[in-house]
Parts: sequence; C-alpha cells; structure tokens
Amino acid sequence: MSESTELPPELEAPPEEVKAELADDMHIATGTREPILEAAGVTMQFGGLRALNEVTMSLKEGEVIGLIGPNGAGKTTFFNCLTGLYTPTSGAVTLRGKPMPQDPSRVTEAGVARTFQNIRLFPSMTAMENVLVGRHVRMKQGPVSSLLHGPRFRRSEAEARDRAEKLLAFVGLTRFSEELARNLPYGDQRRLEIARALATDPSVLLLDEPTAGMNAQETEATRQLIFAIRDLGVSVVVIEHDTKFIFTLCDRVLVLVQGELLVEGTPDEVRGDPRVVEAYLGAPPEEIEAQLHTTEGES
Ligand SMILES: Nc1ncnc2c1ncn2[C@@H]1O[C@H](COP(=O)(O)OP(=O)(O)O)[C@@H](O)[C@H]1O
Ligand SMILES: [Mg+2]
Repeated sequence: MSESTELPPELEAPPEEVKAELADDMHIATGTREPILEAAGVTMQFGGLRALNEVTMSLKEGEVIGLIGPNGAGKTTFFNCLTGLYTPTSGAVTLRGKPMPQDPSRVTEAGVARTFQNIRLFPSMTAMENVLVGRHVRMKQGPVSSLLHGPRFRRSEAEARDRAEKLLAFVGLTRFSEELARNLPYGDQRRLEIARALATDPSVLLLDEPTAGMNAQETEATRQLIFAIRDLGVSVVVIEHDTKFIFTLCDRVLVLVQGELLVEGTPDEVRGDPRVVEAYLGAPPEEIEAQLHTTEGES
C-alpha cells in the first residue's frame, strides 16, 4: 500500500547498494519478458480426489503472479507439481520450454526455488549456515576437493560466505547471522527461508504463504522485499490468503477454487469479477478481505 506504513529500520526495504551488488552477482535478469515457467493442463488426482483440474499458468520473466483461493483449493499442490515433488496425473510443466525435472534437487539446480507454507529451516543451525546450505547447491566443488580443503575449496567457501552475507543483508537479518534459526522471531524465520531460497540463484521463486502469521508491518516489509526480489530479475509466484497483499503486489492474479482455475487477470480485473466475489467466498469484496484476514494460516 502507498499508505504510510512506517517501518522500523530492521524491516526497511533492502538498501540499494546491496540490491545492486546482488544483481551483479546473480545476473539473472535477461529483460526478455518471455514465458519462463509454464504449466499446461496440470491435473493432480489423489485417489478419488481431484486436487487440480487442468490448471494452466504462464509466468513471464520479471513477472509477479499471485495465486489465491480458499483453503484446500489446491494451491500448495500446484507448487508441488511445479517443483517435482508431485508428478502430475496429466499435463506438463516446462521451464524455458524444457520439461521440468521430476526431482526437487534437480529442479533447484535448474533455477526454481521455493519456500514452504510450514517453515522448513534447519533449526539448530545459524541463520548464516542455513543460507550457506542453499548456496552449496550452486557450488561446483566435488567431495574430494572439499575433503582436501585445497585453495579452490577455500576460495569458493569465501565466495559462498560473501554471498550469504549479502543475502542476509538483503532480507534485513544481518544482526541475526550467528543466531540459531530456531531463536529467530517467526517473521524473521520466513525471511531467512527466502534468503536461503535466493542462495540457489533461482530465476523463479515460489513463495507459499510468505506472510502467514505476520503482523501488518512485517507483511508490508515482505511486500517490499518481493518487489526487490523481482528487481533482481527473479520471476515470482506468490500464494497468499491476504487479498490486499496480493492485489497490491502482483502483475497478474490467478484464482483457484476446488482445483479449478476460476479467474485469471490483473488485480483490477480479478477484484471486480463477480465470479470471484460469488464463488470464492460468496460475499462482497470488503467482507472477503475481512474474512481472509481471519482465515490466515494452515491447510
Ligand atoms: N499428498 C496428498 N494426498 C492426498 N490428498 C492431498 C495431498 N496433498 C493435498 N491433498 C488434498 O488436496 C487438496 C488441496 O490441498 P492443498 O493443495 O494443500 O490446498 P491449499 O494449499 O490451496 O490450501 C486438499 O483437499 C488436500 O487434502
Ligand atoms: Mg496451502
């Protein structure tokens, strides 16, 4: 929102110099606006339950797409299909026109990173170590050179640390670098998970309810953080319950209801669509927002 939500210093948007350095290091942006991540007719059947029915999405480079829908609509299942956790019953997922690998670690290598609805950090590792774990996916060092701790290993370790420091600064967690992840406030754990995902140099980032459990200030900070991530050249898909958050963040919004793509369009188109008001919750928009703020959370 443009309304003046004053943010405390630790929640302010990433500093321009950190953004510039990271953009240099990651060099992701190509500026093409070509489709990068595409799902064509994705159906996911669990026994008798059709969790997704012929869902289609095309994410363009540099775009932020929002995915909204009631609990149980299939949003997380869709992310699981996009990231090789689930193999769709039918339909295809492609990254830059090539089939998505059916294996989460190869999906990460291919440049797709995600966060989880239920935070998945290593609780007994420091914030820095958690980001380094993400970074190691990208490091070319084989096990032998790691064992020998040769100069190449030390150089790449130093580079990994440098990048991790920048990423912690980017998400505003420098002061917690050496703190155990489990001791971080909840909202900061979510930001740490984003830093770890970014450490894999993704061209696509999928965020599953990144503001769940956050207060208004933390939510606003997350909105600014996602804008900064987009500015790095990363294309983003965000699942959220908070429609106000989605409508002020995203270029396009997809509404999923009972596994079906109900409406797709710009925030203005979706907000004004009677089918969304009718089928999504059967209530006027103001009530939808009020209700969505209270149904925040789990599936
Ligand atoms: N692994 C699974 N096995 C069986 N059913 C599942 C599985 N994962 C999700 N579902 C079901 O699919 C539906 C969609 O769930 P989910 O994708 O988590 O919804 P959302 O994220 O939109 O709240 C729910 O009915 C859920 O119970
Ligand atoms: Mg979910």
